[in-house]
Amino acid sequence: MGAIGLGAMPLSTKDERPSQEDAVAVVHAALDAGVTLIDTADAYARDESEFGHNEELVARALAGYGGDTSAVLVATKGGHTRRGTDWELDGSPAYLRRACEGSLRRLGVDAIGLYQFHRPDPATPWDESMGALRQLADDGLVRMVGISNADIAQIDVARSIVGDALVSVQNQFSPGWRHSADELAHCAGHGLAFLPWSPFGGVTSAGSLGSTAPAFAQVADELGVSVYQVTLAWHLAQSDTVVPIPGASRVASVRDSVAAAGLTLSPEQLARLDG
Ligand SMILES: NC(=O)c1ccc[n+]([C@@H]2O[C@H](COP(=O)([O-])OP(=O)(O)OC[C@H]3O[C@@H](n4cnc5c(N)ncnc54)[C@H](OP(=O)(O)O)[C@@H]3O)[C@@H](O)[C@H]2O)c1
Repeated sequence: MGAIGLGAMPLSTKDERPSQEDAVAVVHAALDAGVTLIDTADAYARDESEFGHNEELVARALAGYGGDTSAVLVATKGGHTRRGTDWELDGSPAYLRRACEGSLRRLGVDAIGLYQFHRPDPATPWDESMGALRQLADDGLVRMVGISNADIAQIDVARSIVGDALVSVQNQFSPGWRHSADELAHCAGHGLAFLPWSPFGGVTSAGSLGSTAPAFAQVADELGVSVYQVTLAWHLAQSDTVVPIPGASRVASVRDSVAAAGLTLSPEQLARLDG
């Protein structure tokens, strides 16, 4: 059975985000449902003034959870900065170390479970950013390393520089955005986890998934499940190393999405979704 993670971004970046209490309830609902991967980033906040908001929220939710969280992997990211409400980049080694230290502090851990480089920075050579990640792993600040928004050449450079500490690639991949199919297959071939971000097309498009992906809606009707479950089951069917991270700001979304881990699509249904 495939694993579904929680994308925590909608709990912090949206103008109309849930109250802190409701946001914590979303994380707790994911944990109750057996989710063991929570994806966050230091830059997930409304703006620069509250940089780190989502990491602090995740840390608070985990600390306040009644059950065992020892198996939960918190995957955060560094490399995006915020200026006002804008998103900017800094992949320099000095910045990445400072960013990692900030994430360690906010998450309240000695080592980050999975630290992902958020996005290539055109102003910093890729191999320098990768060297910085390798150093963070060698120094014990991060247990595992991931990259995000990377192409195949960048994945291969990351493999050679970061070595065995590199475990994952997080790229956009959804019914309406399949341009990372080659990277997904490359990850499968090299035993790297592939975390499709915005698996429903992102927060502003997710609500219309049923109309923008009619084949998915049709299969959902046949099975009597939501189009979101069919979409996640389709993601999981791409490869054993795929771990979708659907975002949610409502408990009902989490509960519905997690059920996709138990949904198997037939070869005929998958052929229609890929047609
Ligand atoms: N690496 C990167 O550059 C990058 C970029 C973007 C996102 N991400 C990561 O990827 C995660 C997912 O992407 P995303 O949050 O942008 O978009 P998404 O997962 O495609 O869509 C999120 C929206 O889908 C809705 N939804 C989720 N499950 C549902 C269900 N079962 N039924 C009905 N609606 C459902 C949620 O609505 P409600 O809010 O109403 O619950 C949520 O707002 C993010 O949270 C973040 O962790 C990474």
